[in-house]
Amino acid sequence: MRVHVADHPLITHKLTVLRDKNTPSPIFRSLVEELMTLLAYEGTRGVRVEEVTVQTPVAVARGVQISNPKPLVVPILRAGLGMLEGMVKLLPTAEVGFLGMARNEETLEPTTYAERLPDDLSDRQCFVLDPMLATGGSLIAAIQFLFDRGAVDVTAICILAAPEGLAAVEKALEGREVTIVLGAVDDRLDEHGYIVPGLGDAGDRLYGLV
Ligand code: PRP
Ligand code: URA
Repeated sequence: MRVHVADHPLITHKLTVLRDKNTPSPIFRSLVEELMTLLAYEGTRGVRVEEVTVQTPVAVARGVQISNPKPLVVPILRAGLGMLEGMVKLLPTAEVGFLGMARNEETLEPTTYAERLPDDLSDRQCFVLDPMLATGGSLIAAIQFLFDRGAVDVTAICILAAPEGLAAVEKALEGREVTIVLGAVDDRLDEHGYIVPGLGDAGDRLYGLV
């Protein structure tokens, strides 16, 4: 597993505003989208491309285009939905599949309550979006789900991670083709499984308490 923490002052600046408990929901939503676009630049470094030529007004130029089958972007509902626009802005030809997961706040175990993905992901490159990697349970289940459908390599893009969650993902998916791109790695998890200092509950801050 490869882990890449994007180190850029713009990311840190936006993340600082995102963490602030006084940042209202509309600004929080915009920042999640903007952070996603910045992280997508790192996260798509390994996107598969093929060589093409184009005719410029002057001569033939060699370049690349995104290969087929197109990448599959999978936001994990709810909070991952806030990242989707920021991703498809950079990867407009990607297809989008959905996984709905909710963490039981007592046991911290994730349950999958919705799934809308192609049955066969053979040879597909997948990008999973979820702002928070806390215990890692949700991300492990999501990535495992994609591998079970035949995905070949998975990149997860998260805004924040806890070291405990990263270690759990590494252990559970050892030997798999997994890359994790992060905005920051925080200090730890608290006794309720929240990232410290973190930003609170990302889904609630994006969409309100349910
Ligand atoms: C949050 C977050 C992750 C998960 C992380 O979602 O968006 O999916 O928790 O926690 P974990 O690493 O311990 O599994 P939540 O279950 O709160 O659902 P929501 O996005 O609908 O708010
Ligand atoms: N989910 C969140 O939204 N925030 C956390 O800190 C942990 C899990």
